[in-house]
Amino acid sequence: MNTVVVNGVRRGHGTVLWISTEVPVSDQSREFAIILAAGRGTRMKSDLAKVLHPICGRSLVGHVVDSAQAAGLRPVVVVHHQEDAVRAAFAGEDVDFVRQIETRGTGDAVHAALESLPETGTVLVMAGDAPLLKADTMTALRDAHQENAVTVLTAQVDPPGGYGRLIRDEAGRPRIVEASEASPEQLAVTEINTGLYCFDIAWLRSVLPTLPAHAHKDEIFLTDTLVEAAKQDRAAVLLHQDADEVLGVNDRWDLAQARRVLQARIIEAHARRGVTFIDPGHTVVEIGVTLAEDCEVGPGAVLEGTTSLASGVVVEAYCVLRDTVVGEGVRVLTHTVCDGAQIAAGVRHLGPMARLRPGTVLEAGARVGNFVEIKNATLKPGATVGHLSYIGDATIGEDTNVGAGTITCNYDGFDKHHTEIGQGAFIGSNTALVAPVEVGEGAIVGAGSVITRDVPADAVSVARGEQVDRAGAATRLRDRKRK
Ligand code: UD1
Ligand code: MG
Repeated sequence: MNTVVVNGVRRGHGTVLWISTEVPVSDQSREFAIILAAGRGTRMKSDLAKVLHPICGRSLVGHVVDSAQAAGLRPVVVVHHQEDAVRAAFAGEDVDFVRQIETRGTGDAVHAALESLPETGTVLVMAGDAPLLKADTMTALRDAHQENAVTVLTAQVDPPGGYGRLIRDEAGRPRIVEASEASPEQLAVTEINTGLYCFDIAWLRSVLPTLPAHAHKDEIFLTDTLVEAAKQDRAAVLLHQDADEVLGVNDRWDLAQARRVLQARIIEAHARRGVTFIDPGHTVVEIGVTLAEDCEVGPGAVLEGTTSLASGVVVEAYCVLRDTVVGEGVRVLTHTVCDGAQIAAGVRHLGPMARLRPGTVLEAGARVGNFVEIKNATLKPGATVGHLSYIGDATIGEDTNVGAGTITCNYDGFDKHHTEIGQGAFIGSNTALVAPVEVGEGAIVGAGSVITRDVPADAVSVARGEQVDRAGAATRLRDRKRK
């Protein structure tokens, strides 16, 4: 019997393992990783295939693929349920796919993938629903495998829930018994199958076609390979110390636990590289986010997609930033929401409670105050929109001031139109700029105007009803009402 027990793999080192890295070897020399992602995931109770559920900005199976890539492996993803969507999730990535004709169990899924593998050699098999496994763990399993037919990664999990239990016979030979088929004594065993295995490919080719289906599910279990390998004293077990890392997501509660662990890892990695988190337990930072040294992220902040903060940026409490680039030293005041915005270094004021939508560009020295919504618009250097405004499809010139309550009326019910405001202009409060319209350089627009024609440069334009003052009329009105 060839049992390997290793005291786990390293934790807490400096490398960010779950971000895929350049693999310095050619495709030909890379070993394969079969990633099982064909199942529906019935226990998720979802229209979306389980492996496509996102955590921290990437699908479950995407995280598995990233770790495999980081371990220098070449991923082959087994697909069936929502096959097109699973393939689409990897558009442009170096990932191969194999179709499982019917989802007849994990053994059948690996069988389907064999056609993509070389005749001999070693392959890792991993479940597409275990997003926390690190590249180092895959490498440790590969190293432990040696000349075995199969080496399985196990962990101590208590309570062991629905995982397959690692059961040893009197001679110490290992096998896996699924929770659904286990006796009460077997169910009490806390060493579980993580679903990560290393196989001898030639051996796998000879054994998989011989495995019987399990009657109650009509499925072929990959776990049964252990029984065959044990008969030849070629089954090995690697016990992993970190139970958090092996979590397999089967339902929404598992998904929530996986998210918590992965989020903590991402935030810790940023913190170790010089980012301050005021309340790391209540902060969301997705995996594609870039944070430079000396950023500070406030409680409840949500940083998503490809958001990137340059050094010294402060994001105050409860801001949400998606696909947004923030230049050095900018302070994003509380409750500001940005999506697809570019905020240059030197922007002097942003928020609180500002909303920047896609296509917003704030140049150096621009200022945006509370309850301002901006979409597809550029604020040139020094431009100010201080309060309660909507600026859409517009360019606001350098050092121009836009007064409170100004609205660019960019939509006529059919099409969107542009508003162009020149340099050094002044737009009085509560102005409606009916686009398409231009306000020339240095022009002044009186408060409350509805501007429907272009305003020439340097003009003072007022477009509102004349004020009428009737002396003593207020008293007369009140007297009339009292009678
Ligand atoms: C499986 C293991 C169990 C282990 C657990 C670890 C088996 C029989 N059981 O159980 O011992 O403790 O993982 O998380 O292997 N899949 C396919 N095609 C299929 C069936 C499944 O590709 O026909 C994929 C699924 O999409 C999923 C993965 O295989 O990504 C595992 O399937 P799942 O149903 O989650 O197995 P578990 O019940 O978790
Ligand atoms: Mg599972």
